[in-house]
Amino acid sequence: MKFPSAVTVREVGTRDGFQMERGFIPTADKVQIVDELTAAGIRRIEVTSFVSPRAVPQLADAEEVFARAARRPGVSYEVLVANSQGARRAVAAGAERLLVVIAASDVFNRANVNMTMRQSLKQAQQISEVARGAGVPMIGALAAATACPYTGEVPQERVLWLADQFVELGVSELYVADSMGMGYPKQLQRLTAAVMERFPGLPLIVHLHNTRGMALANVMAAMEVGATTFDASIGGLGGCPFAPGASGNLCTEDLVHMLHGLGIDTGIDLDGLLAASARVERVVGHRLEGAVVHAGKSFQAFPIPPQLLAREGVRTVQDVEGLAFKGRPPNG
Ligand code: COA
Ligand code: ZN
Repeated sequence: MKFPSAVTVREVGTRDGFQMERGFIPTADKVQIVDELTAAGIRRIEVTSFVSPRAVPQLADAEEVFARAARRPGVSYEVLVANSQGARRAVAAGAERLLVVIAASDVFNRANVNMTMRQSLKQAQQISEVARGAGVPMIGALAAATACPYTGEVPQERVLWLADQFVELGVSELYVADSMGMGYPKQLQRLTAAVMERFPGLPLIVHLHNTRGMALANVMAAMEVGATTFDASIGGLGGCPFAPGASGNLCTEDLVHMLHGLGIDTGIDLDGLLAASARVERVVGHRLEGAVVHAGKSFQAFPIPPQLLAREGVRTVQDVEGLAFKGRPPNG
């Protein structure tokens, strides 16, 4: 397998994750989590969304979160918008990139934003005018790019057609999303490769959900064909309020744990992320899906079990090994 030497992890928990939480998360907690994530080395973060507060009440405090979060040098503070009203709010707040999402399935797009794909494209055009006027880059996100919960597998030509429309609007980046965690590694790999081949030189973000346990396998598949930027969500927060059975995003700390294990650089401090994940779990008040935060890092040494320590003067791992082999090498 061929891997990149470095990967950019784009954090989306405070948007894609928090929008799903029922109890309103206090603004101060949201701000603290954004700050902890950027302190841990996250360099791109989708802080919140500037959408209708009626559609997503959890993120009604977008302006305040944005104003209060620390602005660390070298970090890109990004947001999701769904119409020009949102784009104007985002630009006024100082957002550094605008993410515009259109689903490659009409049914899913209607469920998500109450618009057909063509109506959404009209909105995207208006958003692109606001973005261009303000000199803020726009990301074209292709949601439900692998499959739709209502219509099944989404044909690749449809996704590429939608990508063409975004490129005509002058997007600075494309983004393929397996929004419902329905995509298989081979399929996701084919799609990632097709988008990269069609738009060489245009950066690509891959956005994955772990609904069916395939997110990390999908990361491996996408890296093999050259993807180097992945969205992920602290603790594995997330889901989609408009998709049946949708659950968490690819978990940030699990992704970073795997990448570091593969020798791939992220510039992120894993311990800092694990501390942020533990805080997020306390703030949302329920167990999250992240594995490493609960199990511990696979390359960390755990304390020797007390029942062993009580026996035969065992104090260290070396003592235990010595007892097992009585001085002989394991295969001697
Ligand atoms: N910011 C603040 N208010 C907004 C807004 C925005 N970006 N967009 C719309 N509104 C307000 C309107 O002012 C209007 O308010 P009013 O009734 O007090 O006049 C109300 O919301 C309804 O607006 P309308 O244009 O009729 O939209 P709608 O009800 O058909 O909803 C969207 C369409 C796109 C605005 C709404 O569905 C939305 O914001 N969806 C985002 C969903 C999302 O974030 N999904 C996850 C991302 S994948
Ligand atoms: Zn998502």
